Amino acid sequence: MSGSEDRRELDLERVLCALTELDDPGARAFTVGRGDWPLSGFLVRRGREVHGYVNRCPHAGHPLNLRPHEFLTSDGSLLLCNSHGALFEISTGLCVDGPCAGARLRRIPVEVVNGYVVIAADFRAEAFAD
Ligand code: FES
Repeated sequence: MSGSEDRRELDLERVLCALTELDDPGARAFTVGRGDWPLSGFLVRRGREVHGYVNRCPHAGHPLNLRPHEFLTSDGSLLLCNSHGALFEISTGLCVDGPCAGARLRRIPVEVVNGYVVIAADFRAEAFAD
């Protein structure tokens, strides 16, 4: 998550996208990690906040989206799992309605540096393997 603009030197290996590539509100899928099974995640932006989550619903483990980069409800206020309709808060990943109410999306730590959304320096995709 990020608030004010950060002017640190950019580590290009950690860049997921430019902040301007995310609508407000908006979302964008990405993959990170190497090998045959990279981790599938997505970013979601609302105002000055950017959050990263694993693209795996806590209900049945499906990806949330059916179409590329479509993770938000039509009014942009919540995240939607298209499989069975679970709704999640953008800022916490908490499921507030649907078959997994009370469960959470798994957070991927991200921050905004020099206008780019980057994955946290200490992030290890292997730690997310199930
Ligand atoms: S897999 Fe997401 S609501 Fe069922």
